[in-house]
Amino acid sequence: MVTDAHQSHSHNQSHTYRILVLFEDCASTRKRRQRQQSYQHKDKRFSEKRKKMVMEMGDGDEAGAGACLFCICVNVKGLDNGLVLTPPMGWMPFERYRCMTDCVRFPRDCISERLFRRTADLLVSEGYAKVGYKYLIIDDCWMERQRDTTTDELLPNENRFPSGMNDLSNYIHNRGLKFGLYHDVGYKTCMYQGPGAIDHFELDAKTFASWGVDYIKMDGCYASERDLDKGYPAFGQALNNTKRPMVYSCSWPFYKSKPNYQLIKKHCNLWRFAEDINDSYESIANIMQIYHKQQHLLANHSGPGHWNDPDMLVLGNYFLSYDQSRLQFAIWAVIAAPLIMTNDLETVRPEIKALLQNRDIIAINQDRLGNPGKCILTKHNFQIWARPVEPINDMGIESFAIAFVNHGEFPQCPLCPQTYNVFLNEMNLVNPMGYTVVLK
Ligand code: GLA
Repeated sequence: MVTDAHQSHSHNQSHTYRILVLFEDCASTRKRRQRQQSYQHKDKRFSEKRKKMVMEMGDGDEAGAGACLFCICVNVKGLDNGLVLTPPMGWMPFERYRCMTDCVRFPRDCISERLFRRTADLLVSEGYAKVGYKYLIIDDCWMERQRDTTTDELLPNENRFPSGMNDLSNYIHNRGLKFGLYHDVGYKTCMYQGPGAIDHFELDAKTFASWGVDYIKMDGCYASERDLDKGYPAFGQALNNTKRPMVYSCSWPFYKSKPNYQLIKKHCNLWRFAEDINDSYESIANIMQIYHKQQHLLANHSGPGHWNDPDMLVLGNYFLSYDQSRLQFAIWAVIAAPLIMTNDLETVRPEIKALLQNRDIIAINQDRLGNPGKCILTKHNFQIWARPVEPINDMGIESFAIAFVNHGEFPQCPLCPQTYNVFLNEMNLVNPMGYTVVLK
């Protein structure tokens, strides 16, 4: 854990800071684990402050992708609402359950209060809430297609949410969780085409506050760029006017040809910058690439209270191998992404559940400096992603979380293990006193 590293660090030589290996992904065998233990702080090569670090990379896996997350081991100010000083963690149904509204044929999987009650129970009983997954967010397809004809208010779908939103909200809150809801800043919601917020900002914000909503996912379908630029700040203001603190998640940049992140950051707690994720390695790699291409811009605007959102964690579903699951979790931790799962918590495989609940990786994601990582080196099919994290040593130098990614695309042998040599200074690790690797 970072804290342990910090504590033990303070008892160590004051000018050495630690390399905490939080997550070793490319090694699936005991042999590899033993090999990597040679990088522990006891390793003479580190105490002799050697600069060269040799990492053997990637066993590869069934689909040829893997990642290693190493943690080598401010002031905090958020949006006016003071929320999400670290990235939010929770659960959202969309990638897994989409817009299934047929509860007769699919009673277990349809978007209904039953699904959210069951998930609330599982978040608690399966230990997810305890490690930080607190926000249970309902995505699209929860509403009636028409507003209330008398009051103009939004209405939850009568058949699928017969007990109403207050009842569901209480159920969620009574389990110590937070309640999130989807809406759209334009004329209609994206998939269900339910009523959008346009012309009803104050009313909808009041309705959400009266339902005890803690988090709004505000989509941007059926809106012009002008509508978006007017609508997102105006709805944010309407949320503020309710005096109920609600996390404000915007899809604003995704719908803009040239997003103004300065403006978006001023009004939103988080923002989607890429297309919808799906349950595949290709989708994850594509979103990583989108981030990579504009990482300086994105990282500059992210920090406590304001986060880049690369979309949900798809691990725990059908198609990712174990290594691919580790890849997503590692990179989402390093870039300080919201950790919002989308899966069936009842059927998540034990090893994926353990991964989702890995406190060391979560600690990297939740690092209080709120400094998002970047891809700092690309060579062929390898990438190195790095994030400065606590502890900071006496000289004011941060520790680092480092993720080694093997995209496994060597034409001769896509699934083979590879050796990769990297110098510490290539990763901007320039502490003259050297580093300690902490293996977990
Ligand atoms: C858009 C969003 C998704 C999801 C759907 C619902 O595509 O990007 O995350 O909310 O709408 O319709």
